[in-house]
Amino acid sequence: MNNEWETPKWLFDIFNEEVGGFHLDAAASHYNALCPNYFTKEDDALEQSWWSPRVESQTQYVWLNPPFQNPLQEQFLLKAYKECQEAFVQRKRLVVYSIIPSTPETNRWINAVSKASEIRFLSPRIRYIDAESHREIGAPKWGTALVIFEYPRPHRKPQVAWQKILKPKKKRR
Ligand SMILES: C[S@@+](CC[C@H](N)C(=O)[O-])C[C@H]1O[C@@H](n2cnc3c(N)ncnc32)[C@H](O)[C@@H]1O
Repeated sequence: MNNEWETPKWLFDIFNEEVGGFHLDAAASHYNALCPNYFTKEDDALEQSWWSPRVESQTQYVWLNPPFQNPLQEQFLLKAYKECQEAFVQRKRLVVYSIIPSTPETNRWINAVSKASEIRFLSPRIRYIDAESHREIGAPKWGTALVIFEYPRPHRKPQVAWQKILKPKKKRR
């Protein structure tokens, strides 16, 4: 995997519809941003507030496909949870939907998602989009997990499930 691999648009659309529209793409470039409001490497999302003051809604949803490389990926997940806590202190609600490679057999992965509210193992494996060719990357070596953060957490431990993902027949990206 590499830091610039993009989410297939059809997959983003499934979750975008579920939440009624993401307000921010927290890890993006000018070429791969999936929301009009986004942070790039130059902005450094880790140093920004993820709450969008210009959006009127008291609940905001953030899309996050963090850079794959560690410790960056772990820093993004930690930041996601902290942003949810910060919003709560401000009497607001921030919910972060994050997709990451699914490697639950490692302690590192379990620690990184331990503060999540929900983890969904997506099936089948997702083929990401190569930033240069704009084509699907073949034969992914990992599955993908959707990791959802919010605060307060509805349960003491993340609720774990799996989700069958149906790719629409008509390819849009
Ligand atoms: C895996 S890609 C995700 C692309 C696209 N937003 C998506 O969801 O498919 C991660 C993106 O985060 C960007 N990135 C890296 N470090 C970042 C940082 N500190 N703040 C914001 N974006 C960053 C990378 O340049 C890359 O474009």
